[in-house]
Amino acid sequence: MRVGVLTGGGDCPGLNAVIRGLVRKGAQEYGYEFVGFRDGWRGPMEGDAVPLDIPAVRGILPRGGTILGSSRTNPFKEKDGVRRIKETLAKHEIEALIAIGGEDTLGVAARLSGEHAVPCVGVPKTIDNDLSATDYTFGFDTAVGVATEAIDRLHTTAESHMRVLVVEVMGRHAGWIALHSGLAGGANVILIPEQRFDIEQVCRWIESRFTVRYAPIVVVAEGAMPKDGQMVLKDDSTDSFGHVRLSGVGEWLAKEIESRTGKEARTTVLGHTQRGGTPSAFDRWLATRFGLHAIDAVRDGDFGKMVALRGTAIVRVPIAEATAKLKTVDPALYAEAGVFFG
Ligand code: F6P
Repeated sequence: MRVGVLTGGGDCPGLNAVIRGLVRKGAQEYGYEFVGFRDGWRGPMEGDAVPLDIPAVRGILPRGGTILGSSRTNPFKEKDGVRRIKETLAKHEIEALIAIGGEDTLGVAARLSGEHAVPCVGVPKTIDNDLSATDYTFGFDTAVGVATEAIDRLHTTAESHMRVLVVEVMGRHAGWIALHSGLAGGANVILIPEQRFDIEQVCRWIESRFTVRYAPIVVVAEGAMPKDGQMVLKDDSTDSFGHVRLSGVGEWLAKEIESRTGKEARTTVLGHTQRGGTPSAFDRWLATRFGLHAIDAVRDGDFGKMVALRGTAIVRVPIAEATAKLKTVDPALYAEAGVFFG
């Protein structure tokens, strides 16, 4: 059997561990051959293939990024995209395709499987941890680790200068990174996209922190927004992929805090440092297991499915179901963190 593999969407620590896991098990135990497609769906659409065998995956477990490259190409938005993919798969005699990606990449895999009889298996990936079918996605733990280390470092500089330090973390639609790193790093305010914040309340928390002579840390997810009427956000509208860009909430907060409280404030935007570099041990473990189970789904001919973590077990769920709804932070979970605010 010949199996195609691609990685799509934003990169994520652990992608290489998935590739290594599935190639090692598939080649060693089932005698499968692999073809890697470069840059997500662009690879099979344009016939850009690379050999993928055991020597090719040697040493990649701790490496960030993806050896296959990534892109946000969507074949359903390209002329003859699906036909071109089918031609490439036929040319390389591919009998199964493993797509490792987030909502968009997996959405394409679901449609290719369901509507065009392309035998796909999905592996979920996002640092945002917002895919509903799985308890965790790999990359999230690494991102939380990066953000937590930054918060730890910012505490000492904030206190030396008695300043407010605002840390902007990733999370356009879900506040998982903000909530987990904020709790782990002892933040004094955590702001998430799921719940609009009141800038006046934020300033009250900040002032109360100064009364006990400590400098506050505010962790804000990039997609968090103030209440209606409080917002003068720089809306960078949409990028070339059609994503709404809400850049600037961290900067906006620091300015508002300074002018409303008179306290000096600075912003650190962690950005892509959360996505780069070596995966944490947890992410290597999860990504490797996803790879091992994805190749088993191929062996079983269980197409149109995605591997997912439930508790400590890896299960298979329909890809279409997994991409239908985002997993956002439950209000009760967010409320738990409130005891530390101020
Ligand atoms: O979806 C993952 C994510 O990391 C988001 O949190 C972030 O907004 C986005 O990707 C940024 O992606 P890029 O800069 O690659 O467009």
